[in-house]
Formats: sequence, C-alpha cells, structure tokens
Amino acid sequence: MPYYRAVGEIPHKRHTQFRRPDGALYSEELMGVEGFSSESALLYHVGLPTAIVDSAEWEPPGPISGAVANRPLKPRHFLTHKLDGAGLDAVTGRHLLLGNGDVRLSYVAATEASPLYRNAIGDECVYVESGSGVVETSFGALAVGQGDYVVLPTSTIHRWVPAAGSGEPLRLFVIEATGHIGPPKRYLSAKGQFLESSPYCERDLRGPSEPLLAEGADVEVLVRHRAGGTKLTYAHHPFDVVGWDGCLYPYAFNIADFEPITGRVHQPPPVHQTFEGPNFVICSFVPRKVDYNPLSIPVPYNHHNVDSDEVLFYTGGNYEARRGSGIGQGSISLHPSGLTHGPQPGAAERSIGAEFFDELAVMVDTFRPLEIGEGGVASEDPGYAWTWSGRHSGA
Ligand SMILES: [Fe+2]
Repeated sequence: MPYYRAVGEIPHKRHTQFRRPDGALYSEELMGVEGFSSESALLYHVGLPTAIVDSAEWEPPGPISGAVANRPLKPRHFLTHKLDGAGLDAVTGRHLLLGNGDVRLSYVAATEASPLYRNAIGDECVYVESGSGVVETSFGALAVGQGDYVVLPTSTIHRWVPAAGSGEPLRLFVIEATGHIGPPKRYLSAKGQFLESSPYCERDLRGPSEPLLAEGADVEVLVRHRAGGTKLTYAHHPFDVVGWDGCLYPYAFNIADFEPITGRVHQPPPVHQTFEGPNFVICSFVPRKVDYNPLSIPVPYNHHNVDSDEVLFYTGGNYEARRGSGIGQGSISLHPSGLTHGPQPGAAERSIGAEFFDELAVMVDTFRPLEIGEGGVASEDPGYAWTWSGRHSGA
C-alpha cells in the first residue's frame, strides 16, 4: 500500500509497553512483506497471535495453478453465471477458471458467509460484479458492493459475509497472486504518493476505519499455503486487534472512481491499468468518451500481444465491438498468445462516429500461458472460436 494509516489505539512509540485495561501487555505483531524491507503494519492483539491448538489437513478448491493446457490453441469464452449453485461461500465455493504458476482466476456467486480464511501464497484482488456485503478482517471491516476491487494482503485473516436478505448473491471474480498486488509503480512518486498522471489516487481508496473485535476460543482458520491447505485452530479469535498502523492493509477501490484516459485516436490498454502483480496486470475498461480524431475508428484494432494471455471479464454496459460473439454480462474471454484477436466482423465500420462507449470490463493480462480449470471447462461456450469466420470446418 502506498500510504500510511492508523486505526484504533496504538502506543506512541513502536515496540514499547502497551497495556490492556487489566494491566497485561497487548501482543504486538508485525506483518510485513519482502523480509522487513518493504511495507508493513504493526497490529496490537488482546491475545497471542501465535497461540494455536490444532492443525489439520484441508483441501482447498482447485489445484495450486491451472489444470488443463489450452490445447488445441483457441480463443475461449466462459459463461461464469453457469457456475451458480446453492449454498456457496466466497472461499470454498470458488470455481477455478484459469490459472498458471503466477495467478489463479476464479468465480463464485456467494450466498453464505465464508469460513475465516488466510491466503499465505499471495495477495488477492477480488472484483465484485454485483451484490453487497462485508469483508471482515483482523484490520477491521470493509463494506463492499458492485464495482469494488478488494485487495487483501497476503496472509490477512478474513471472511466474506454477503448482505442478508437481499436475495442476490455476491458475485465475485477472484484474482489470486503469487506475491503482491498494488498500483503500477509508474503511478507513484519515489516516496509512494499517487502522481497527477495516475487515473486514481489516495482519496479513491477505502481502508478499515475502526477495529473489529470478536470474542471466541478455539477458532478455525482455513489456510491456503505453498504446500496445499491446512485448517488451523487458534486459541483466541484472531479478530482481537485493538489498533494498528502502517502501510500494509486491506482496502477497496471502486471501478467507478477510475478516471479514464482518452485520446484523439485509440489509446492502448496500458492507459487502463489499475493494478500490477507478479507476471500479470489488471486493467479497468470503464464508460468513457471515445476517440475524437475526425477519421478515428473507436473500436480496437486487431492485435496480437505476443507475450501475453489476455483475459477480459465483461461486467457491465454493452459490448459493441463484441456484438455477434455471444459475449454478455458475466462473460470471460481468453485470447491467448499465439492468436491475433480483435472486434467482431463489421464492428469497426459500425463504430465510426460513436462518441461514447458504455462498457465496463476488468482485464487480466498474464505473461505466462494460462491453463483451464474445472470452472472453465464447465462453463465454456464451445462455438466462440469460430465467431469471426462464421464457420468451423468440423461443424
Ligand atoms: Fe485485446
């Protein structure tokens, strides 16, 4: 995280005596990345954050990375809403769509509160397609809703609680990194402030504002870690932090607060970049005025990013460039390295003269090839690859 935040009660000086009302010491915990050499937070627990009473095997959903190679090579289309089911929660109900050794992309329509969960492999960036709820964490709670990106630092203990009584599931597109997710470095000054040229800034980020305290003993936490999954039982409830400060904490950013950068001719996807992670980027395509050169063609040119697999999650508006492809709300397209992709036939001509695109999409570009998980296999639209030609030799 790029800037400092303090919540609740903390001692004036770090690593000094800080006492509970009963006179005992609070337990100080440093949570930091890159081995004490980068962002960190200091949390003050009522109990010992080290006290566990049991450790048992737990099978996390999906393999560590992907599952099936994209062979034979094809562009793919996944209809995520086909994965809806009863009684799913935002952690154990995830369906793995795509993954590789760097990042996993999953989808879940959650209706139930999740167990307490810690992802010890990397940060998670969870995009809320629709619905609302609360993410409870040891740093405090975040109210979340449609269009929010929720960034959860590695190993943050948390749980997802969909809003009760709405009847609508909390639809989540989950991006799990192997490492850390944050704003692109080019958006930040050397000291970490968002630059004027960045499409968003500190004011657009929402962090926890007060401590979240819960009572309880022998509390289970599901942990996803480099060797698999484990169910740890903590002696005290991990939500026992009376205060914390630092530059590492969960936060939310709403896609509606992303200010698009536009131009006289078509602007390349890096202007839409929102976050970066190890070997992948996350971009936001938001409603915007489009290219205003008198001869401009507002839809993208055909392109082949030879070093990337490109994933697009269609999450609102209409998709003029994709008319005729079957793409709609909740669709995910995969355009892998090895193939050129672009608008559907006729879309370039139709777009001339357009002044505004009402589209909303989240893009993940990975630098290593993506494999297809069980959720991808189960939700694939098999005809998508042939929609540019209108035919298939085997059909
Ligand atoms: Fe593309």
